[in-house]
Amino acid sequence: MNDWVIAQDWNSYSAAEHALWDELFARQAAVLSSRAAPAFLEGLDVLRMSKPGIPDFTELSKRLEKATGWSVVAVPGLIPEEDFFDNLANRRFVAGRFIRKPEQIDYLKEPDVFHDVFGHVPLLVNPVFADYMQAYGRGGLRSMRYGSIHRLARLYWYTVEFGLIRDGSALKLYGSGIASSASESRFAIDSDSPNRLGFDLRRIMRTKYRIDDFQQNYFVIDSFEQLLRETLDTDFGPLYEELDTLPEIEPGVILPTDRVLNRGTQSRVADRP
Ligand code: PHE
Ligand code: FE
Repeated sequence: MNDWVIAQDWNSYSAAEHALWDELFARQAAVLSSRAAPAFLEGLDVLRMSKPGIPDFTELSKRLEKATGWSVVAVPGLIPEEDFFDNLANRRFVAGRFIRKPEQIDYLKEPDVFHDVFGHVPLLVNPVFADYMQAYGRGGLRSMRYGSIHRLARLYWYTVEFGLIRDGSALKLYGSGIASSASESRFAIDSDSPNRLGFDLRRIMRTKYRIDDFQQNYFVIDSFEQLLRETLDTDFGPLYEELDTLPEIEPGVILPTDRVLNRGTQSRVADRP
């Protein structure tokens, strides 16, 4: 199998690209200090490299390997699902090597090195989350045999990318799609627009998601242990078959069976042109 790994070629980044990383890092660290999960903030230290700018994946991987056995490898862009899952199953996190242009500082569609590394790597330092990501990769390979990649993609979306977690009586963010965006970090935690619902594996795997705007629903886990335990202890094989007989759920919907932590106003959707 082609694993798509390329050289990061750290020396080929320009001074401006390194400076853009440093600016994004400083801005995001400030936004996250009161909003990100403690485990995410602890993991951020792994990104404080011996030289400023975009982390050198070789140095970063050495640190990660010591912590949890993960490494970070560069790939040219989005890669086929099977190879993505296979890398995760082998504790290799695949990351884009390019960084956004200065005019895209607030938003870009494709995952760049800031999203992939700043957003994803801090939690790979956490032993429980590190195990979840590997289990997810194995589960992804298995989902292909059931024609159910889309269900596992939804689980990734609502946990790894856009998940919230309880921290005492507060809600904090841990999803990388939120953590790498200043505006969605504020929205996900501070706004009264989105619904915040208790984590529900079966429900999540039936729920469509938006890729063109902030999320309308966020799902809240109690702990990373809960996330790992529930996903590992559930045999997804029969579940995929059962879920195929049930209707899909639109983003932004609240069901009578949902555990509602915050009922959102959905004002962001109403305001949309
Ligand atoms: N238990 C899942 C299965 O049977 C595998 C899995 C684990 C999927 C963790 C996602 C996350 O396929
Ligand atoms: Fe991502």
